Amino acid sequence: MNRASALAHPNIALVKYWGKQAGNHNIPATPSLSVTLDTLTTRTSVCESERDRVEINGSLVSDKKIEDFLVMLRAAHPLPPLLIESSNNFPTNAGLASSASGFAGLLTAIDAAFGLQMSPSERSIWARRGSGSAARSVFGGFVSLEETNGDWFARSILPMEAWALKVVVAITSETAKDVGSTEGMRRSEETSPYYSGWTESTKSDHAAGLSAVSHQDFSRLASIAESSCLKMYALMLSSRPPLFYWNGATLETISAVRELRNGGVPVFFTVDAGPQVKAICQDTVADVVVERLSRVPGVLRTLVCGLGPGAYVD
Ligand code: PMV
Repeated sequence: MNRASALAHPNIALVKYWGKQAGNHNIPATPSLSVTLDTLTTRTSVCESERDRVEINGSLVSDKKIEDFLVMLRAAHPLPPLLIESSNNFPTNAGLASSASGFAGLLTAIDAAFGLQMSPSERSIWARRGSGSAARSVFGGFVSLEETNGDWFARSILPMEAWALKVVVAITSETAKDVGSTEGMRRSEETSPYYSGWTESTKSDHAAGLSAVSHQDFSRLASIAESSCLKMYALMLSSRPPLFYWNGATLETISAVRELRNGGVPVFFTVDAGPQVKAICQDTVADVVVERLSRVPGVLRTLVCGLGPGAYVD
């Protein structure tokens, strides 16, 4: 019986991906740059079964994204029906990139269980077809997702141990988001008057982000990342109907991060398609950041992560 399991971690984009190119291979409209986390973990196991069954956090689900992904994968690699069991030790579908760790782990487990012998770049291409950001969770540390030789896949740009950073996640809601990223991106592409400005400016943000990471220039990275996040949110707000992923506590937490930085603490914020705020800081100040963000009204709890590895067979 073919069986394997894999561990994968979510990643947090510092230069965001929001928007896809035409076609059905899930090709991003822009390059992106992220950090893979530790602590938050998705464990996925796959084995042959009589029919496809997907269990997430112990419940049987019907997940269109996974179903479509398996159709695509089987067109290239004949696979039997599968039992897929995936569980997260963090909130699912709430802006904590569970689809990134989910698809990176799923692909890594399938590759191992059925001896597909994919290279990391091939796993990244396949993971991307499931969820754009999943391409990045195949790798650890700082990761860039960009076009190389006509295809889009991620690569590691700085190993996790090279730069001692921490990511403090302020959880402001445990509820799953109401508009998924695929629908949200489609809405922004079709309706936001700022969409072309977004895709154009993200290319130079990405280049500047790569340079800031290679020089380990914290304040330049902070400025690029906050700008990318706020531009993405401007795009979301200017879509019709608008995409509101933040809540009041999200904004209060962002203010607290800005206040800390104005007081000399090396920290910056980013937020994704959900209400949680991720505060990236130098590891020496993580306790100060946790203490301050825990006091923000509406912050339910904080999680502290370091930089983590790419998806691996367990
Ligand atoms: O990979 P998706 O379809 O879950 O989209 C990810 C979108 C953002 O998290 C908002 C940005 C990013 O680059 O991860």
